[in-house]
Amino acid sequence: MAIRSVVKIGDEILRKKSKEVVEFDFKLADLLDDMVETMRKADGAGLAAPQVGILKRVVVIDVGQGIVELVNPKILKTAGAVSEIEGCLSVPNKKGYVIRPKSVKLEAFDRCGNKCIIKGEDLFARAICHEIDHLDGILYVDKLEEGRPLMNEK
Ligand code: CO
Repeated sequence: MAIRSVVKIGDEILRKKSKEVVEFDFKLADLLDDMVETMRKADGAGLAAPQVGILKRVVVIDVGQGIVELVNPKILKTAGAVSEIEGCLSVPNKKGYVIRPKSVKLEAFDRCGNKCIIKGEDLFARAICHEIDHLDGILYVDKLEEGRPLMNEK
């Protein structure tokens, strides 16, 4: 495992659309392991592959309930809307309010290629939506709640 460097806002790679994973091989496992290690080191709640410079639909999340790995995630259903503060490892020292679904249902694959149905609520749902946005070149700063500008973290 290795720590990878996190790409910061301004880098064009964060604005590109990621490709679906087709090979569930050792390279995918290495990427996931490195992403988990990188996320932990940076004390983040989630990380998407484009943030380490890889345009693949791969996400890791840890909102305090253990590591969740999502490959080719696809949201099937959302419900509710909640405004909360979020941040991003690619947008250092900033925070802002974003309206996200209160709950989401999605399908995704694990690192072995098994399809899973996952349900998330609140912070977990928020993290899922934030990370999937990264796979489509979207950053949370694009979605700030109207009238609530980006804030400095400290
Ligand atoms: Co982010």
